[in-house]
Amino acid sequence: MSSERHLTSFVAILACAALASCAQVEDPCKTKSRVVADDKYCDKYWECDNGQSVQYDCPNGLVFAGKHRGVTEGCDYPWRSNYCEYPKVQINPPIGTEHCDWLYGIFGHETSCTRYWTCWNGTATEQLCIGGLLYNENAHSCDWPENVDGCQKHPLCNEDPNGNVPLGKSCNRYWQCQGGYPRLQRCPAMLVFDRRSLRCVVPPTEECDVPTTTAPPPEEEENRPRVQHQSKRPSQGFSEQSRPPPRN
Ligand SMILES: *[C@@H]1O[C@H](CO)[C@@H](O)[C@H](O)[C@H]1NC(C)=O
Repeated sequence: MSSERHLTSFVAILACAALASCAQVEDPCKTKSRVVADDKYCDKYWECDNGQSVQYDCPNGLVFAGKHRGVTEGCDYPWRSNYCEYPKVQINPPIGTEHCDWLYGIFGHETSCTRYWTCWNGTATEQLCIGGLLYNENAHSCDWPENVDGCQKHPLCNEDPNGNVPLGKSCNRYWQCQGGYPRLQRCPAMLVFDRRSLRCVVPPTEECDVPTTTAPPPEEEENRPRVQHQSKRPSQGFSEQSRPPPRN
């Protein structure tokens, strides 16, 4: 029997014996999967152990999804599906740790719209939204700024809501602000982003060399970047550098 699961079988078996009130929960020992959802609490389930029906709790913050489903132990994030529809309720109280409202879950950042936390057994890992996206608390994922309440505009575009903004030291990528929303853009092949005029221009500029065109065999063309820079800088692609600065 797994030690991480909170065993409540003793109480449950007593309750069943005394009240004969377990009729609504299907006997897991009579099912093929040997696991059934609790009929009242979406964060509890019943499993057949040595011929006995035993009640278990999902890991804190998760609800029962079905055997071999969900993110761990047959349990899933409550918002992933209609696991907790009325009249079912989540009965276990949240156990919080730093950055985590529950031991398991995905939570908003305290100070930034472009960051969020994933929590696994109470350990928080900071995550970043890239490409001008912001964390959407309702969707529990990165989303277009216009869908994110309270974080509609990005400070990156404060100076000019429809202007271009350099992206780190990149020679071909930049942010294009559209009504205050940043969009990641790339200069057309052979051009470089000029941080003075804030436009794509014919190189060289002060910071950017003339890109060298590689002439790949036609069949490889699709999979290769069309322009390679002479500079020894690593490609800036969708790296840490490509996110807008945190909103503080
Ligand atoms: C979760 O963390 C607790 C304490 O930090 C530890 O005792 C337990 O084994 C962990 N459980 C899992 C499933 O990793």
